[in-house]
Amino acid sequence: MNRKPFIAANWKMNLNRTEAQTLLRDLSNISVKDSESEIVICVPFPYLLLATEQFQGSQLQTGSQDCSSHAVGAYTGETSAAMIRSCNANYTLLGHSERRRYHGEKATELSAKIREAHAAQLKIIFCVGETLEEREQKLHFNCIHEQIGEVASALQELPIDSFVIAYEPVWAIGTGKTASPETAQEMHAYIRNVLKNSFSMAPQIRIIYGGSCTPENAAALFKQPDIDGALVGGASLNAASFKSIIHSY
Ligand code: 13P
Repeated sequence: MNRKPFIAANWKMNLNRTEAQTLLRDLSNISVKDSESEIVICVPFPYLLLATEQFQGSQLQTGSQDCSSHAVGAYTGETSAAMIRSCNANYTLLGHSERRRYHGEKATELSAKIREAHAAQLKIIFCVGETLEEREQKLHFNCIHEQIGEVASALQELPIDSFVIAYEPVWAIGTGKTASPETAQEMHAYIRNVLKNSFSMAPQIRIIYGGSCTPENAAALFKQPDIDGALVGGASLNAASFKSIIHSY
């Protein structure tokens, strides 16, 4: 199955405006020639316009790291999918483990966010991943099955090329402990099987890996048959290391 590689950066809550502008500039010369991958940079909300303006005419796309589950109105501090789209971003992350953990995001809210993003024509990088405790108790497959199953009906409303699944084991995020290529592949294959329950086109859905992905380990991960790219945190804050990951595919 021919799936276009997908490499995304998640800056999380890092960089001041000057640092962000420098990194955006350093990234923007990545050319189609250099990579056949789809590349998305997910920046903090205040930098969305800076990113889309910097990336005009380049191969890079811009994403946000979340969107509101509401369309419009009295929701202080929230940012709607339509606002994000109006800044010319075309992706949003949803369901990141840091949102689930620090903001208690659960299935009902995540399904609403998926629908809001789709209504605003934002594509979605939907994150799933088990904690260390869940893996130690051998509940990791159950956990992922549940995280996908509970939003499957919302995702089914989307065209198959409008979303990407990111497998990010929580124990590998920001810890330097990457999942081995074999461990990651085992879960990616499992996810693809779970997706088959809800999507006849499951073989076409891209599943990317996140969790301490670096220039050193990216190539071995990308060699696995069900790993279609990466969602990169820390290593995406440096243009050279992010480009090196892109070129590892
Ligand atoms: P790190 O690459 O810093 O481990 O972060 C992964 C992540 O959470 C990306 O969304």
